[in-house]
Amino acid sequence: SEYETILVDRPESAPRVGLITLHRPKALNALNRQLMLEVVEAATAFDRDPEIGAIVITGSERAFAAGADIKEMQPQGFPQVYVDDLFRDWDRLADLRTPLIAAVAGHALGGGCELAMLCDILLAADTASFGQPEIRLGVIPGIGGSQRLTRAVGKAKAMEMCLTGRTMKAEEAERSGLVSRIIPAAELLDEALKVAATIAGFSAPIVAMAKEAVNRSYESTLAEGIRFERRLFHSTFATADQKEGMGAFVEKRTPAFGHH
Ligand code: HXC
Repeated sequence: SEYETILVDRPESAPRVGLITLHRPKALNALNRQLMLEVVEAATAFDRDPEIGAIVITGSERAFAAGADIKEMQPQGFPQVYVDDLFRDWDRLADLRTPLIAAVAGHALGGGCELAMLCDILLAADTASFGQPEIRLGVIPGIGGSQRLTRAVGKAKAMEMCLTGRTMKAEEAERSGLVSRIIPAAELLDEALKVAATIAGFSAPIVAMAKEAVNRSYESTLAEGIRFERRLFHSTFATADQKEGMGAFVEKRTPAFGHH
């Protein structure tokens, strides 16, 4: 493969699904610059591929990712990280149309927790743990953690986690709304691929609209968000897939979406 820090696959068991596995086992998948660029490139290639309708990002049993690469960051100075705009490339993942599903087992710390949170759906193994321990290193979250964690679990928990570095286990993460579901570790990947294949079987433009509508709730008032949703809803009627989806229901058959 052209990549060194990730594995990229199109699992046969999951049609129209792209799988990205973080793969720096000796560093618990620490997110160095190369890994960031490879993940963004692979995800962008899947996003542009009309044969892919959902993307799963996963790590290893031990770690989804134990954070940004501390050894790589340690010597860097302010002018360099500022001019390079360190971690900016991760933002490009959040802009993709194709839904991203994080399948998290083991440690999801710092940048690892932030990467999981910038995915659209977060599925956790019962072994998962989440945290923003940057404070212990003399820095703060830098890939959206202080913002996305606060929106996901509320100020009290987010503030405590960012100020003390306390980690949350899967159960607390689910209870707090950080993850959508907990899955036994041995079944995590299969279940994530199943969720992804379900999404990928639906109309790609309609899926993109649903994702855009939910994301809009982060950036607008309720009235503005509802107006935005209503307009997108109306525009679904401009697609062949709306005719197919509703037609199939009326005719009591399975829809075959053409993604247009
Ligand atoms: C670089 C890392 C790493 C990291 C682990 N490793 N995390 N290398 N960056 N974030 C390396 C270790 O140095 C070690 O390499 C190997 O992976 C195995 O890790 P161990 O510590 O030996 O494993 P274990 O004892 O099981 O402990 C697991 C752990 C611990 C609790 C997850 O590794 C840990 O605390 N890691 C750092 C977690 C963290 O602070 N993350 C936030 C990073 S800052 P060697 O060569 O010794 O075998 C961040 C900021 C984002 O993400 C944006 C703001 C700047």
